[in-house]
Amino acid sequence: MIIQPYDDGIALARALAVRVCAAIEERPHLVLGLPTGRTPLQFYEQLRGRSREQCADWSRVRTFNLDEFVAVAPGAAGRYRAYMQRELFDHVNLAPGHIGFLQGDAPDLDAECARYEQAIADAGGLDLIVLGIGTNGHIGFNEPGPSLEARTHRTRLLPPTRASNRALFDDRMEQVPAEALSMGMATILHARQVVLIATGATKVSAVAQLMTGPITTELPASFLQLHPDATVMVDAAASPR
Ligand code: GLP
Repeated sequence: MIIQPYDDGIALARALAVRVCAAIEERPHLVLGLPTGRTPLQFYEQLRGRSREQCADWSRVRTFNLDEFVAVAPGAAGRYRAYMQRELFDHVNLAPGHIGFLQGDAPDLDAECARYEQAIADAGGLDLIVLGIGTNGHIGFNEPGPSLEARTHRTRLLPPTRASNRALFDDRMEQVPAEALSMGMATILHARQVVLIATGATKVSAVAQLMTGPITTELPASFLQLHPDATVMVDAAASPR
């Protein structure tokens, strides 16, 4: 695992945008896994700020987002799909049919998870996935616990995770969904390249444990130690000393 430290979040976001754009340039059919949360906001801003000449053409790229809440109304601003439209999809020439997203309002959620796994496999698997990290070490919505799910699944959110997503729901905890759908750990670990980004002092402990702690289901991000091509990009505040 490689750790790349940056002075601040902007420098990190710029470097990540350069890496993703270079990957698209090299492989126009890139299959890209994407995160939500506060951490990637500057990265998406960097991508939006690039002209089509500066950043490769997105017309053949396929994306798959990591996760989505269950049972959030289609128009609700807190939906991750709405976040992605605002932050990236409305601003690049990505074909709507190339956007992979979990439907948290699907009538049969188990079938929806199976559909998503198959869609990723049919696309040839993920070439590159960008991940954030929760303060409790979760990635996507793979929460700490006695076991982890390998594949895309339905999951209950832990209180700290619901609290950190509160801002998306008018800061009202009671509005934050109790459940979500998420890519599983094996889905994530099968990506050919993984980049985890972490900024701010609240992440320093999770980053330290993920880098050097034991590989444990109690810190899902620690499984990245097993990946042959994983990079952890951190700003100064999140950097373990
Ligand atoms: C959510 C998302 C994760 C994200 C995490 C951290 O729970 N499901 O994918 O990494 O929050 O969010 P933030 O970047 O806001 O700290």
